[in-house]
Amino acid sequence: MKNGLTIPIVILVGGFLFLNPPVTEAQISKSDIEMLDKLSRFPGDLGPLPKVPVPADNPQTPDKVALGKMLFVDGRLSLGPDRKSSCLTCHIPEKAYATDHPTDIGAKDPRNSPTLLNAAYNKRQMWDGRLPSLEAQALSLIKMGLAVSDEITRLRGYKEQFNKVFGTEEVTAENMAKAIAAFERTLTTPNSPFDRYAQGDKSALSESEKRGLWVFLLKGACVQCHRGINFTDDEFHNLGVPPRGPDDKDPGRFGITQKEEDRGRFKTPGLRNVALTPPYMHNGVFKTLEEVIEFYNKGGGDVPGKSERMRPLNLTDEEKKDLITFLKALTGELPPFIPPTLPTE
Ligand code: HEC
Ligand code: HEC
Repeated sequence: MKNGLTIPIVILVGGFLFLNPPVTEAQISKSDIEMLDKLSRFPGDLGPLPKVPVPADNPQTPDKVALGKMLFVDGRLSLGPDRKSSCLTCHIPEKAYATDHPTDIGAKDPRNSPTLLNAAYNKRQMWDGRLPSLEAQALSLIKMGLAVSDEITRLRGYKEQFNKVFGTEEVTAENMAKAIAAFERTLTTPNSPFDRYAQGDKSALSESEKRGLWVFLLKGACVQCHRGINFTDDEFHNLGVPPRGPDDKDPGRFGITQKEEDRGRFKTPGLRNVALTPPYMHNGVFKTLEEVIEFYNKGGGDVPGKSERMRPLNLTDEEKKDLITFLKALTGELPPFIPPTLPTE
């Protein structure tokens, strides 16, 4: 640790998180911000995006990424309820690889399409964490699609491309999934203002954004769950998010584990680029970040089994604004999307 103030602030934050006294005196002073500026490490191991992790059995190559991108946009994969969709239908590059409708059919229960930006860092995929990797996620969809149409496997253009990448002309679902996952691993967004700040450029965040970071770490204690380099603990929590309507009875993680304590628990989503991906929560029930912050400020919903970490925050109007400006400073450099040419025969 480079500097002596890191320890006191870690103790301070640690004490706050574990003793949990609501901080009602809001005023964030200049010296608080100076202290923040001196930190070389942040509580909760918040930090800049590292290099993307790549599994040993699916190394990245430019040809594989190019093939993955073709498959990603190809409607002949026959996905979705209409059997005409590609990944692009619900993960739209111009919408930060999500959609702007509250829910899309992606599971038994309609849920909000998560962004694929930085999904490569997730320890588990889907709101209920039912799939362990990008490869497993893509494979499960391809198998559903191919059961209806195997048009794609017969195209010469794909056979040649598969031969180049995998050394076999056979277009298998497993290799399709590997190629798509390799493409998804290029969807990272480094160099957000927060990343530059964490790397030592103390002018990368405005005063308001720094106060927002302070609220994120201390008074709001968001970092209890939104931690690490991707702002998620990869765990499941019940916040008491309100249902969209009487038919919205999504059991969340319970649907996978059948453990009663998992009812209503959903995976903590990463918060990078969150300003670009409304609506919010697993069911898209909140239209804006303002609505999300109001929800947290009142201590979440009123349901049995709610996380003990949820409690009223008593944020001032200014702190709410600061928190939102901070969340916006998590928007990084988006990868360019150049549509590929698809094989016709
Ligand atoms: C019809 C809309 C739709 C299509 C088509 C679709 N998705 Fe999704 N995707 C979703 C929804 C909805 C979820 C969340 C479902 C859940 O949690 O149960 C999701 C979740 C994911 C996740 C998990 C992300 C996370 O943060 O947990 C990944 C990765 C993903 N999709 C990739 C793909 C790929 C690759 C394709 C194409 C092979 C694809 N999706 C096609 C709607 C879609
Ligand atoms: C107890 C753990 C926990 C705490 C504390 C927490 N979050 Fe969350 N956050 C989650 C989970 C879990 C979800 C998804 C909940 C759902 O959909 O049911 C979520 C969702 C969100 C979303 C929506 C993201 C999206 O893509 O839909 C935002 C924004 C957010 N949290 C910000 C915050 C902020 C700001 C704080 C502090 C005031 C905070 N969170 C505190 C666990 C937590």
